[in-house]
Amino acid sequence: MNPFQLPRNEIEALVAEHGTPIYLVSHAQVVENYRRLDACLPAVTLFYAVKANPYAGILATLARIGAGFDVASQGEIEAALAAGADAREDLIFADTVKDPRHIAHATAVGLDDFTYDNASEITQIARHAPGANVHVRIRVSNEGSVARLSEKFGARPDQAVPLLAAARDQGLVPRGVSFHVGSQCLDVRRYLEALDTVRAIFDAAAGEGMDLAMVDIGGGFPVRYHDEMVDITAMGEVISAHYEALFDARVQLVAEPGRAVVGDAVALVTRVISESERDGRRWLYLDDGTYGSFMEVLLYRMSYPLRALSDGPVTPYVLAGPTCDCIDVFSRDADGAITTVDLPEMHLDDLLVAGGMGAYTFSESTRFNGFPPPAFVDLD
Ligand SMILES: Cc1ncc(COP(=O)(O)O)c(C=O)c1O
Repeated sequence: MNPFQLPRNEIEALVAEHGTPIYLVSHAQVVENYRRLDACLPAVTLFYAVKANPYAGILATLARIGAGFDVASQGEIEAALAAGADAREDLIFADTVKDPRHIAHATAVGLDDFTYDNASEITQIARHAPGANVHVRIRVSNEGSVARLSEKFGARPDQAVPLLAAARDQGLVPRGVSFHVGSQCLDVRRYLEALDTVRAIFDAAAGEGMDLAMVDIGGGFPVRYHDEMVDITAMGEVISAHYEALFDARVQLVAEPGRAVVGDAVALVTRVISESERDGRRWLYLDDGTYGSFMEVLLYRMSYPLRALSDGPVTPYVLAGPTCDCIDVFSRDADGAITTVDLPEMHLDDLLVAGGMGAYTFSESTRFNGFPPPAFVDLD
């Protein structure tokens, strides 16, 4: 169950017990989201992207149902291992920019699968993980996605084969190609175009004597925050059909979903701790904000469904967090300007619930001004 829909009296009872701000976690929803992806992408091995939400309870739930983990640092490796993952079987190090000390740690615990997109990364991997399996990440279109990861990551497709050959020359094992269509990707064509590009790279690599065996389609699967058209099953079926048309079953398919596994499995409950009127607009100050769970509002103009546990006439409010920085305002329009949101009238001590708070909230929260992140409350 999406915890955003939890009855008001149950949320109030949880707040009476745990205080605010809190994350309400539905592990049943995590499992349902994971199994949906697993079912519609039958040939795919799923590695949950720990960066989306590294809460130990969520990692343990995913480990229990057999998920693998995509990790980006020593901290994420340790978190996945603590959840019960096996370093060699269940982990891939899919971040292309790696701290060499973290590569060495990965090697020490048995992780032997790394992604890279430039020659210096080959040097780093060869130094600290000699003989490891490697994937070259290519830059693909992120058009229409919320987080455009290709701006920072991925080699040009024409660089892929030379980079794979360079890895082989340094004693690494070139295993395949990876891409990321951008986070919150609503257009399945991004995956299909990317798979076409990978097919061409496989053919060119074969011409250089390299028999590639794995395609990593990254993350990007979306969450319905408001009224976006999201049909994960349909998306997965289209991707699977395209993969089957392009590759033989020997080629292993891998995905690293984050947002779609945890996004709608967590709701945030935050409380009004101050209110004011400024230049004719009513402001509410909550005990969580941009430096806490709402970082993606600033980064990507993210907007979350909101529900006030109050009654009264609909009133436009500016919503701000508790820190002493002026950027800590999370009611913003598509251009990032401060705007108002309509909510039932709210006052001091009232509760605001935000939905879709599972991905890139806790993991991106800061310690600014000494505010700790919200506590987790497991609903099941
Ligand atoms: C390498 C890599 N894999 C997977 C993911 C997860 O992406 P998403 O949460 O969009 O599924 C990310 C997100 O930044 C990433 O950088």
